[in-house]
Amino acid sequence: MNFIEANGAKIPAIGLGTWELRGRTCARLVEQALRLGYRHIDTAQAYENEREVGEGLRGSGVKRGEVFVTTKIWTTHFAPNDLERSAKESLARLRLTEVDLLLLHWPNPQVPLSETVGALARVRQLGLARHIGVSNFTVALIEEAVAACPEPLVCDQVEYHPYLDQAKVMEACARHGMALVAYSPVAKGRVKNDQALLRIGERYRKTSAQVCLRWLVQQNVAAIPRTSKLERLSENIEIFDFELSDADMREISDMGSASGRLTDFGFAPKWD
Ligand SMILES: NC(=O)c1ccc[n+]([C@@H]2O[C@H](COP(=O)([O-])OP(=O)(O)OC[C@H]3O[C@@H](n4cnc5c(N)ncnc54)[C@H](OP(=O)(O)O)[C@@H]3O)[C@@H](O)[C@H]2O)c1
Repeated sequence: MNFIEANGAKIPAIGLGTWELRGRTCARLVEQALRLGYRHIDTAQAYENEREVGEGLRGSGVKRGEVFVTTKIWTTHFAPNDLERSAKESLARLRLTEVDLLLLHWPNPQVPLSETVGALARVRQLGLARHIGVSNFTVALIEEAVAACPEPLVCDQVEYHPYLDQAKVMEACARHGMALVAYSPVAKGRVKNDQALLRIGERYRKTSAQVCLRWLVQQNVAAIPRTSKLERLSENIEIFDFELSDADMREISDMGSASGRLTDFGFAPKWD
């Protein structure tokens, strides 16, 4: 497994996304993923599966210290006291004493960002999170968060795949030593039948999803694909035995535009 290094954190380049995985299915997939070699699991309070993620971790037999666990605080818990309390509740559900990475799930303009990142930093200082970061932050919000946070932020987790251009956020992350963690990295399954990715994949004997994930990690981006299918767990991690040429990297990057976004909500920030 390759790692993405960012402000002191070593983030395994591929993680398992767990949005929409629930109950026994979730626990079983987390367990199976860890047995197959995954070392990074992405959950969130909003996914309502922290308990099952914890079960899967314990069931896998993989040592706690070898797995990088991320969870995210939901926006209704951003007032400083709420944030600390809800981080502790996440740990209780996961049955862990600390997470490896704790993120603010979305920006929330109703609470001053300086107060929220102050509370997030305090959670780190208390030893409840080894690293802290943000998610769905724009360039302006990254700048504001970095300036206000007394502890280093290690990533911005944002939507990123071949159809969405994220050059501006990537540049801002790099400027601050932060990693970009790509969510919806296989564009929610849309890359599967992409003719250009299939054609590139033929040259390397790889699937279009593997080409897509390789394109992400070759840019020093971490990716957290989600699958509910056991066979795809292996597919999505078998991307470290080939390298895309510069021409292939460029061709895939050229597919991206600002209109390729798949996740948007009324409460989302004004995107770059
Ligand atoms: N921070 C945020 O606000 C935020 C937002 C969205 C997501 N996330 C995180 O990012 C993770 C991934 O994002 P996502 O779930 O939106 O989308 P994704 O991982 O891009 O796509 C998941 C979909 O693609 C299919 N798929 C997965 N691997 C495949 C493969 N090799 N070939 C073909 N199809 C494949 C899955 O179907 P099958 O189950 O049938 O394989 C599933 O329907 C989430 O689970 C969550 O942890 C974070």
